[in-house]
Amino acid sequence: MKGCLAVSDGTRLNKYIAQAGIASRRRADELIAYGKVRINGKVVRELGTMVAPGDKVDVSGTPITPITDKAYLVVHKPPGVLTTLRDPQGRRTIAELLPKRGPRVVPVGRLDYDTAGVLLMTNDGELANRLLHPRYGVEKTYRATIAGRLTSDEVKRLNDGVLLDGGELAAGAKLRVVSVRTGASVIDITIHEGRNRQVRRMFDAVGHPVQALVRLRFGPVALGDLPIGHTRALTSKELSALRRVASQDEKHSST
Ligand code: URA
Repeated sequence: MKGCLAVSDGTRLNKYIAQAGIASRRRADELIAYGKVRINGKVVRELGTMVAPGDKVDVSGTPITPITDKAYLVVHKPPGVLTTLRDPQGRRTIAELLPKRGPRVVPVGRLDYDTAGVLLMTNDGELANRLLHPRYGVEKTYRATIAGRLTSDEVKRLNDGVLLDGGELAAGAKLRVVSVRTGASVIDITIHEGRNRQVRRMFDAVGHPVQALVRLRFGPVALGDLPIGHTRALTSKELSALRRVASQDEKHSST
């Protein structure tokens, strides 16, 4: 889980030292009281001192690597698993795919019971909210197996935006035909909204029900070769890229 940890907000100094594996919190308090701890080169003796992002801490001159309990995971969700941590009806949930140890994380949005693919999990509520907020329009790409073959008119309708059941207008999507075989087609579809069952309802709207659905990508985080049912920590590169896409406003004028 080491690769998924990063500082984001202020942390109490004794906790910061303990999380870096230097000493227990109690021992950290002693080190602070003895004047062994410096923040940005200045000795700190106040036990309640907070460490801010970017602060440099050292103990007896040894710099401490900043670690907090923020966790960022990607799960390859299988179909037939709920995107919740518990189910009163005893169905399989995403909880069984998570590491047994480590901070408690929650899903960033949801995938339908029958949908597979990329599911981000974190305890960074602020980043999760941004990733789901329509103003950032984070792109998600799905591989849909649909009944039949799309006509060029239907592709155009999906590109322009279709009216869903219930009267909502789904914004235009990017489409790529992956393969066409007798009675079914495989289509990659990229959307930047997060309406309930959106991809299934978009294909329903043009008369081609979805038979199987896999999320290939959530913003910069791709499924890659992560085996189905497996979980891994995000790399620091992926995390930086996620933070970037969740801070760039109004990319899609139609939303
Ligand atoms: N669109 C859907 O229809 N289902 C999902 O799980 C995600 C997007």
